[in-house]
Amino acid sequence: MKELKVLILDDETRITEKLKYHLEKRHFSVFTANTPNEGFSMLEEHEPGVMILDVMLPGMNGLDILRKVKGDYPNLEVIMISGYGDMDMVIQAMREGASDFIRKPFQIMDIQLAIERTEKFLKMQSRLEAAEDREVLVSKELESMIEKDFVGISPQIRQVLKMALKAAEDGDVNVLVTGENGTGKEIISRIIHYGSPRKKHVFAPVNSSAIPESLLESEFFGHVKGAFTDAREEKKGYFELANKGTLFLDEIADMPYTLQAKLLRAIEENRIKRVGSNKEIPVEVRIISATNKNIEQLIDENKFRIDLFHRINTIEINIPPLRERKEDIRPILEHFVTGIARKKGKKKPAISGALIQKLEGYHFPGNVRELRNMVERAMILSENEVLLPEDFLLRGNEASKVCKPTVKVEGLNLEQNERILIEEALKKTDMNQTRAAELLGISRDAMKRKIKKLGVEIVKEIGREDDNN
Ligand SMILES: Nc1ncnc2c1ncn2[C@@H]1O[C@H](COP(=O)(O)OP(=O)(O)OP(=O)(O)O)[C@@H](O)[C@H]1O
Ligand SMILES: [Mg+2]
Repeated sequence: MKELKVLILDDETRITEKLKYHLEKRHFSVFTANTPNEGFSMLEEHEPGVMILDVMLPGMNGLDILRKVKGDYPNLEVIMISGYGDMDMVIQAMREGASDFIRKPFQIMDIQLAIERTEKFLKMQSRLEAAEDREVLVSKELESMIEKDFVGISPQIRQVLKMALKAAEDGDVNVLVTGENGTGKEIISRIIHYGSPRKKHVFAPVNSSAIPESLLESEFFGHVKGAFTDAREEKKGYFELANKGTLFLDEIADMPYTLQAKLLRAIEENRIKRVGSNKEIPVEVRIISATNKNIEQLIDENKFRIDLFHRINTIEINIPPLRERKEDIRPILEHFVTGIARKKGKKKPAISGALIQKLEGYHFPGNVRELRNMVERAMILSENEVLLPEDFLLRGNEASKVCKPTVKVEGLNLEQNERILIEEALKKTDMNQTRAAELLGISRDAMKRKIKKLGVEIVKEIGREDDNN
């Protein structure tokens, strides 16, 4: 996926440089500017997706800049930084279309979270636009691929698939898919859509927690021109986009309470009104929702409306966690290994029995997604013809068992213990410096420098290939 481009405009170099440093480490592509004019030319040159903008800038105030950049680049998302006491300014900024704001002094984490929220939102927008362009064209290959991509032999997973296909056949029934992170809720929802009479229409995935609060209503129901300052064009909302198709409400438990009532009305009446208009527009969508939370508990806590809950879960499909259906681990592993080998043009490695055993003993907090990430990692790092237990790093207790050095530290002398750890890591990886560096959580260059500085001897078994390149 393309890196998100972020522009930071703040008059304090200290702030722009610090933010740049931290955000680049998190794989954003970062540009900085310290004056408005510098900022404008950066916008023109790099077309970033997100701008972080200080409300107090010498020469031109942040609100004027916000107004100008939103006028020139309506799709740019702007996160404002405000000093304290600027509350009026903040409210004004949100009205003018800023998507979020952060108050000074802030932690890097605050900025990162704000960007991630915005990034999710941008991604969703582009997926929806693509869906609208495609509208009715879902190829036959795609349809058949989707089902093949859902792998599993356990009775539980067969039951899940059976229910999904029944829901697909019906076409209208609302479905709630529940399950832990990474269990396959979205893929099952797609199977339901593409297996249904609605397959020629849009599958619109929407994650309301990624949408800035001020935009929620207009994102779902659309708006007419001039409905608010930022509404320069009229715009369809998700309900209209997904008309005749499926609206996939991901992470439904996070939907703000106020929106829940409006959503319920739209579902019950099959009609919506765009923000700023009184005209009723008929819409007809199937709702598939997903959550990893316990909605009943949220109902008890008055965070989720019971009437909405009853509307969305005519059928509930629960996907059990991978640890409760261990017989699926082997076929899913095979499936990923085959797919990744094909994609990388590599020969498919064999899978050792010991590896299966190790994975079957693991609790998989991240479920199938975690397994896929592990396979990807192992297939990048391992050059063997067989995938072995040591190619897979596990989290939590298991992980510490695997990585815990068998050596004892000696006193508290850092340098001395550094040497011990480095030697141990090298021993564990058969003197493979790259993998040893990984185990230690340092870069390969840092590893090389330390080996040189400490004079650690690299004794290889004769006949092994050199990995020092
Ligand atoms: N049974 C399965 N067979 C093959 N691939 C699967 C299976 N279940 C999940 N996956 C894959 O695992 C990854 C995670 O699945 P998905 O995104 O559908 O999970 P999710 O439940 O929506 O996760 P989250 O709660 O984090 O949103 C995807 O790459 C998906 O293709
Ligand atoms: Mg999901």
